[in-house]
Amino acid sequence: MMFNKKTLFAVSNLIASVLAQEATAPKDSAVVKLTNDNFKSFVEGSNLVLAEFFAPWCGHCKKLAPEYVQAAKILKDEHNITLAQIDCTEDQEICMEQGVQGYPTLKVFKNGEIDADSAQTYQGQRTADAIVDYMIKASLPSVITVEDVKELDDLLNNATSPIIVNYGVSKLDKNFLSIADSLNEMYTFVSVPSSKKQNISLYLPSGANDPIVFNGKIDDIIEDKLILEKWLKVEALPYFGEIDGSIFQFYVESELPMAYYFYVTEDQLEDYKEYFTELGKKYRGEINFVSIDAKQFGRHAVNLNMKEQFPMFAIHNLTANLKYGLPQLTDEEYAELTIPPVVDKADITKLITDFVDHKAEPIVQSEEIPDIQETNVYKLVGKTHDDIVYDNQKDVLVKYYAPWCGHCKRLAPIYEELADILANDKNAQNKIVIAEIDDTVNDIMGVEIPGYPTIVFYPAGKDAEPILFESARTVEAFLEFIKNNSANKIDGPAIYEDYKRELKAKQKAKREAELENDNDDDEDDYDHDEL
Ligand SMILES: *[C@@H]1O[C@H](CO)[C@@H](O)[C@H](O)[C@H]1NC(C)=O
Ligand SMILES: *[C@@H]1O[C@H](CO)[C@@H](O)[C@H](O)[C@H]1NC(C)=O
Ligand SMILES: *[C@@H]1O[C@H](CO)[C@@H](O)[C@H](O)[C@H]1NC(C)=O
Ligand SMILES: *[C@@H]1O[C@H](CO)[C@@H](O)[C@H](O)[C@H]1NC(C)=O
Ligand SMILES: *[C@@H]1O[C@H](CO)[C@@H](O)[C@H](O)[C@H]1NC(C)=O
Repeated sequence: MMFNKKTLFAVSNLIASVLAQEATAPKDSAVVKLTNDNFKSFVEGSNLVLAEFFAPWCGHCKKLAPEYVQAAKILKDEHNITLAQIDCTEDQEICMEQGVQGYPTLKVFKNGEIDADSAQTYQGQRTADAIVDYMIKASLPSVITVEDVKELDDLLNNATSPIIVNYGVSKLDKNFLSIADSLNEMYTFVSVPSSKKQNISLYLPSGANDPIVFNGKIDDIIEDKLILEKWLKVEALPYFGEIDGSIFQFYVESELPMAYYFYVTEDQLEDYKEYFTELGKKYRGEINFVSIDAKQFGRHAVNLNMKEQFPMFAIHNLTANLKYGLPQLTDEEYAELTIPPVVDKADITKLITDFVDHKAEPIVQSEEIPDIQETNVYKLVGKTHDDIVYDNQKDVLVKYYAPWCGHCKRLAPIYEELADILANDKNAQNKIVIAEIDDTVNDIMGVEIPGYPTIVFYPAGKDAEPILFESARTVEAFLEFIKNNSANKIDGPAIYEDYKRELKAKQKAKREAELENDNDDDEDDYDHDEL
């Protein structure tokens, strides 16, 4: 009798998900339980292991469990590949060492290498089928060994990704394999052990170009594989290549600034090709130059803080997330153009030189500076942020928010009251600023904003370190936090007491005044009850 494998899976999955609401695989499953004590020796003794780092309470882990158990059985029975589990609530040490930041984390360990950085993280679907497919691929050698020239030519001719070839440098084999294990999804690694002349060559898929030969000292890369890795990530990119979603990651991996040329017509590209290719050579290892088709990807200009006026040139320093570009026209000026704007090569060259010399000014996205401040909460914008928060004389509390964020909306009236209380105090008034900024429409440099709202206190003084506010979001807690951290010695709770006292007195006076008025005219007002 023939079983349809898929149906069997489906049925057993159903049963599994009804029975096993546990994240921990059953003892009698094919999943191997690893601990602080045996993790290292087990991984080092295996060619290939997929390890799941989990916590028993985690919902996604529970959901994964039946799939994982299923995959473990197939992989063990048919492919001699091991799936393991580490309970991070029991064996924290190993989870820390492996840099586990969320549950479940699935890592692939190859060739007994335990190093957290070289292990690939599984990012695929959390189904048995997907895991099985992925692990079968992972079990194939990540370095292809070829013996003859014909075989190599085939590979090179059919290449869709960059191919790096180790021609006979056998001393490098170990590092080469280890780099291949972590990067073989992006590049193809080939070894030709029989080569007489030894070198490391890189072939780009773009065509029959001569390979790029590693020109550093071979001894250095035998010593330190990172040198070869970095070289590969830079050299695998063309001097001036077309960018789209499929290769963007290669550029990110190279960790270099990107210089974009947006074009609309083929002529606009042709006219600049040679120019940018030369720049690409000149700034190799410093800046990557790319062309981008504005007809398809014009919106990307906005990410670079530029208007969609093409052709256009801009630079993005990805590590600092700073953007640089040539001046653009106003919308009115642009609308009146009858021919596309001209991007002057001399201007581009100047911008690049300034950028490299750290003389170029980044383009800061900012709302307009408000003419007047409408409430006691000071409205910051990108252009004013640094001047205000790094004011040496004043303590400054800043709320970084997004208009759509619910927590921010709930905080708004409390924050407003806080600002009112401090503004009411003659002494505090000039010593502290309660401010806010809409982070979605203003660039803020050098402040980490992991979520909304993020509230940061900048004490007065030249070298004061910013302090993150992490207490309950109540007026009382804010005032206590300010007292705790104020360089200007602002006693929040005391100011609050005064404020409340004053408020009471005012209300009393108001009520008395109203009472007098009321006695004069509308005596039936039901509000009187509250007096
Ligand atoms: C399965 O793999 C282990 C190492 O991971 C190896 O020692 C063992 O011989 C393999 N078994 C088979 C049947 O290939
Ligand atoms: C490369 O392509 C040729 C024909 O286009 C084919 O015969 C050959 O098997 C392919 N080689 C590899 C390694 O895929
Ligand atoms: C690199 O090695 C290969 C294979 O031995 C050889 O054909 C090629 O000419 C070498 N390239 C250089 C620049 O030495
Ligand atoms: C890019 O940003 C990084 C990180 O801030 C900085 O170290 C580097 O100097 C910047 N590069 C240029 C050319 O400005
Ligand atoms: C203020 O400082 C005290 C004493 O260090 C601490 O217990 C309290 O939690 C702090 N309050 C806030 C809101 O930071």
